[in-house]
Amino acid sequence: MDEKKKVIFSGIQPSGNLTIGNYLGALKNWVKLQDEYDCYYCVVDLHAITVRQEPKELRRRTLEVLAIYLAAGLDPEKNTLFIQSHVPAHSEGAWLLNCFTYLGELGRMTQYKDKSQRYGDSISAGLLNYPVLMAADILLYNADLVPVGIDQKQHLELTRDIAERFNKLFSPTFNIPEPYIPETGTKIMDLQEPTKKMSKSADNPNSYILILDPPDVIRKKISRAVTDSLGTVKYSDEQPGVKNLMTILNALTGMTMEQIEKKYEGQGYAQFKLDVADAIVTELEPIQKRIKEILDDKEYLENIYKKGAEKANYVASKTIRKMQKKIGFIPR
Ligand code: TYM
Repeated sequence: MDEKKKVIFSGIQPSGNLTIGNYLGALKNWVKLQDEYDCYYCVVDLHAITVRQEPKELRRRTLEVLAIYLAAGLDPEKNTLFIQSHVPAHSEGAWLLNCFTYLGELGRMTQYKDKSQRYGDSISAGLLNYPVLMAADILLYNADLVPVGIDQKQHLELTRDIAERFNKLFSPTFNIPEPYIPETGTKIMDLQEPTKKMSKSADNPNSYILILDPPDVIRKKISRAVTDSLGTVKYSDEQPGVKNLMTILNALTGMTMEQIEKKYEGQGYAQFKLDVADAIVTELEPIQKRIKEILDDKEYLENIYKKGAEKANYVASKTIRKMQKKIGFIPR
């Protein structure tokens, strides 16, 4: 029965064009979970505005991310797919939880430290409070599991701390969620600087492969990916560029690292890179076609996000009322 299924929550920010990092670290794994779990997948537009967004672009990208969810294989009948700002409980919950989160905890978040360096003087308070909004996202649905790439692990640990604190201060209210980090594709690295995470906000387009990059662009970017002068396909920390391309190939084809090493033994990098590019194109081409079809049918998209918001609103506002009652607010 549905009620017994464990709950999953995850989201992606519509803050840039999605990369193959988002696909392999998150989306591809979400699709595998949809039969077994009660899944909530959200387009987290409230998170996106922690850095400046052009309103028109934000609108376009929000719908595009939802279309990508669907095109990647998330079934709207099985999953609750919605847009974060359509469910006011996320903002409300974030405020409540902000009052049970310490400034010191937020200042220690690696992503905040990185981004605040990048944006210099114009860091919004939202950027600091961002992980609290993420905690609200997860706790409002009493999620058991949160499938994310490893870069989000620290935020999830903070979510657990906040939930435990609230439960202890009042009485058991929240489930303590577990991260659900895939074995493969956990962290796809930048193609130009393979010691850095591949990010949709990188300045150099050769650093990333976008889900919507055309095949010829994908092939060009992979051929330009930084490797090394050793010339052997080996899964080693000394060869971060090669290691990253192997991770991508493994996540896409299921070939093990040993199988990949063996296949390209004594061959240099040329064929290896051609095959990595081919694997990406083979995976993404049908998805790209579906994304375009879905985006052409705005009514279909609207039906999905409206239905999703309705279900999410129902569940999340129940949790808000529970929180308010425990905190000591007068019931409405
Ligand atoms: P975001 O939008 O940066 O990334 C979305 C998902 O993609 C994963 N990811 C990667 N995985 C592997 N390699 C990479 N290079 C890579 N880049 C991104 C991320 O780990 C993430 O799973 N704070 C979140 C969004 C969020 C959220 C949530 C997630 C908001 N509320 C609640 C889970 C639960 C974020 O910025 O993800």
